[in-house]
Amino acid sequence: MKNVLVVYYTQSGQLEEIARNIAKPLLEDAETSVTFFNIEMVKPFPFPWKPAQFFDVFPESFLQIPTEIHTPSQDILSQKYDLIILAYQVWYLSPSIPITSFLKSEFAKQLLDDTPVVTVIGCRNMWALAQEKVKTLLKNVNAKLVGNIALVDRHINHISVITIVEWMFTGKKEKYLGLFPKPGVSDKEISGSTKFGTIILKYLKSDSYINLQEELVANDAVEIRPFLIEMDKKANKMFKIWANTIIKKTNSRPVWLKGFYIYLLVAIWIMSPIVYILHLFTFPLKYPKIKKEKKYYKGV
Ligand SMILES: Cc1cc2nc3c(=O)[nH]c(=O)nc-3n(C[C@H](O)[C@H](O)[C@H](O)COP(=O)(O)O)c2cc1C
Repeated sequence: MKNVLVVYYTQSGQLEEIARNIAKPLLEDAETSVTFFNIEMVKPFPFPWKPAQFFDVFPESFLQIPTEIHTPSQDILSQKYDLIILAYQVWYLSPSIPITSFLKSEFAKQLLDDTPVVTVIGCRNMWALAQEKVKTLLKNVNAKLVGNIALVDRHINHISVITIVEWMFTGKKEKYLGLFPKPGVSDKEISGSTKFGTIILKYLKSDSYINLQEELVANDAVEIRPFLIEMDKKANKMFKIWANTIIKKTNSRPVWLKGFYIYLLVAIWIMSPIVYILHLFTFPLKYPKIKKEKKYYKGV
């Protein structure tokens, strides 16, 4: 008998849908027991978001400051798991606050210690450096990362910026104005993610995860777009300065958050197209580095 725990947090339900589709083959297997743990905040985050609330979570998300979450049930805490599937979303190029709060908790130490983990990301498209942060958090609790699946919005970067903001501010995962594509991970990819569960189950039963990530990648579990990695790195440098400044501004925080919002608008709509053009021109020169990075971020 194999024992699997699926840990997730979701606001719209997207991450739960992904997690449940991946877990399907495990649930259908007579020799595997699957338990779900939905991370719940003591003070829940709003959904849909109001713009001010959406920007207000930036410093704490980026600086990975945890807040209180509800303790998992005794039934969950009393078991030892053969595998933990951790399904998370990215907030401001970092794991979302609920996920950070879980990974920094005392019970994460207990649950994850010496346990294989498959991370499942469901986000807009910028996750690579957030996954590096999750790798560190997992190392801190002595977990063993054995696989990663990253599901994203595959539309053009700027289109997905518009549609995700609309989704987050209305709570409706619909075609904006009837013109734009549906935001987030596509329905086809969500339902198709069951194939990853079949792969995971095979490795779980063999008691070895060597080649798991290779097989997941061969089945489109991870797509790397070099331009997004470049933007992720650049934005992380700037976000670090903004977050460390804003966190100290207790009285003038709303004003500073407005400044950050303006910076984001400029970065997304003015700076990023310029960086993109430069990226295209310098692509042949940077090709060996890009090839190496692609291999790295596809791995675990
Ligand atoms: C405050 C906030 C910040 C976000 N920042 C990012 C980001 O930096 N990169 C990204 O790819 N997606 C980002 N997203 C999108 C989420 O990763 C995720 O796709 C979306 O919130 C849906 O997840 P859900 O299952 O919780 O509804 C952000 C969402 C929120 C609410």
